Formats: sequence, structure tokens, C-alpha cells
Amino acid sequence: MNMEDKFAEDIRKGLSASQKSIPYQYFYNERGSWLFQQIMQLPEYYLPGCERSILESNEAALLDFFQAGNQEFNLIDLGAGDASKTKTLLAAYEQRDVPFTYTPVDLSTSILSALSESLNAAYPNLNFEALNKDYWEAMEYLQHKTIKGQRKVVLFLGANIGNFTQEESRAFLQQLKSYLAPGDLIMIGFDLRKRPEIIYKAYLDSKGITAAFNLNLLHRINQELGGNFKPNYFRFYPYYNPLTGALMSNLVSLKKQSVRIEALDMDFQFEQWEAIHTEISKKHTLAEIETLAKDAGYKVKEHFLDAKNYFVDSLFEL
Ligand code: AVI
Repeated sequence: MNMEDKFAEDIRKGLSASQKSIPYQYFYNERGSWLFQQIMQLPEYYLPGCERSILESNEAALLDFFQAGNQEFNLIDLGAGDASKTKTLLAAYEQRDVPFTYTPVDLSTSILSALSESLNAAYPNLNFEALNKDYWEAMEYLQHKTIKGQRKVVLFLGANIGNFTQEESRAFLQQLKSYLAPGDLIMIGFDLRKRPEIIYKAYLDSKGITAAFNLNLLHRINQELGGNFKPNYFRFYPYYNPLTGALMSNLVSLKKQSVRIEALDMDFQFEQWEAIHTEISKKHTLAEIETLAKDAGYKVKEHFLDAKNYFVDSLFEL
């Protein structure tokens, strides 16, 4: 199935279900990716700042784990984006002439070419290969390319794992195992539980950028699938459940309405106050992270936390 057909099919499925939903993967068209960059600059959206501070203050300790003595390693950055946080490590290691290669992986061609340009300019001696592939295609490719004896260190930063369900997180870690050898590492960024108001405000931001990011899904359906959503008839409503640690993002229909999607040749009915679920952003406890690692067959080497204990980069070894 090509990308357009997959989009149409996922929207058909999501909007036909009794609990309507739109998969969060569709946030990231050009405008959505731009809005996400704006979210990352918001003072309320504390996640990137916390993770950057963790990498900055622990680059040397991380290097000890990555090198495990004096081993060469391949740093594989899944969903690298602009690699703004990873660059903290690249800068430190390049300066010290550490022997390693860097493999940023991202589905967006434009993001990857901008990244390659900036890496060439800022780190002329860095040995890197940018891969415009999905995670599994990239891991498969690296399987055949890895230099003998080179250790794989996979980065999955930015709390991207928080957008997975529990089963998806476990399946992701298990699938990753088939591309790793004993002793390889994976470092995952998890957002942690904290005062609920802080979490809530990170999504219900004062400038309404996260609302625009969610409503962009409806604009995208209009543009790409010939939909006639009126985005101002929907309101973004996130809520945080401290019992489960799930921040749930939703779009609520402000009135009873019917929406036509030409590409599907279908009309979808919305009751007043009916919600479309768009995203889960899970907040973890360290105990949950330990269980996840154990269930998927990894050893936890270390949890690196920021000064406020808002965020953790957890290092697992196979
Ligand atoms: C990419 N992901 C970890 C973000 C999150 O916090 O769930 C996406 C996002 N959604 C709203 N704001 C940011």
C-alpha cells in the first residue's frame, strides 16, 4: 500500500470506530513538523530542556558506557530530527577524538538534508551517514554494514516512546533486540511523573501551539483527502490522569456535524461533545521503566535524571 492509501485507510478506520481516533503519526506533515519545532521552544514544554541538561551533564559518564573500555561504537539516532540534543554528545566526543560513527535516522528527507548540512558545517571530522528510512529498514541496513566488533548504541530520545501504548513499547524493544548483539546498548528518553499541573500546562500551552498542532490533523485530511472539516468547530482538549500517567490529547466536536471525506467517499457523523482521540503522551515511573526493560529482556545499566527529576534517559544493555 502506498503512503496516500495508507493515510486514507487509517483515517477511515479511525473515524469509523465507536471511539474515534486519528493516529498521532499523521501530525508530522510539513506544517505539523514546523509546529512541533515551535512546541519544543515553549517554556511550558519542559521535555527538551530537561533532556538536553541530562546529556550535557553526563556526556563523560555516557561515553564510559558507550566505549566499555576502548570499543568503537556506532551511535544510531532513531527519529533524529534536527539532532539538537544529540549534538551535545557529538560536540564533546568529536573534540576528544573519540572513535565512533553517527547514524541519524529519520523519515523526513528535508529534515535529514538540513541535518547533514549542519553536521558537515559544525563537525567536519565527524564520520556520519544519515539514513532516510523507517526504524526497521535502518536497523536491517545496519545489520549488514556494521564493522566487526563495533558496538551498537541506539538512541531513542525525546520521550517518543511515550506516544506508544504499553504493548507497543514492549514490542518495539523486543523487535529492536533482533538487530542487536549482547553488550549493545539502547538509551531511551522517558518523561517522568510529576506535579500534574506542570504536565497539563506543557500541552495546554498559553500560545495555543499544541492546539494548532492537533487541529492541523483536520487541515491535513482536508488537503490530502478532500475532507471538509471545519477545524474551528473542534476544540483541543488534553487531560492528564495521574492514576495511569497518561496525558490524553483529544479534539472535541463543538456541535453535531457531518464531515465528508471525498477520497473515502464517506460521511462521518459527530455528536456534540464527541471526542476524537489523537495522542497519548505517557509519563512514567522508574519502576515502570525497570519492568519494561526486564520484560523485554534488557538489563538497566543506569538512569540519568535531570536536576528536577522531571525526565530520565535510561540506558539498557542487551
Ligand atoms: C513527540 N512526542 C514525544 C511529543 C509528546 O510530548 O508526546 C509530541 C507532542 N504532542 C504535543 N506536544 C508534543
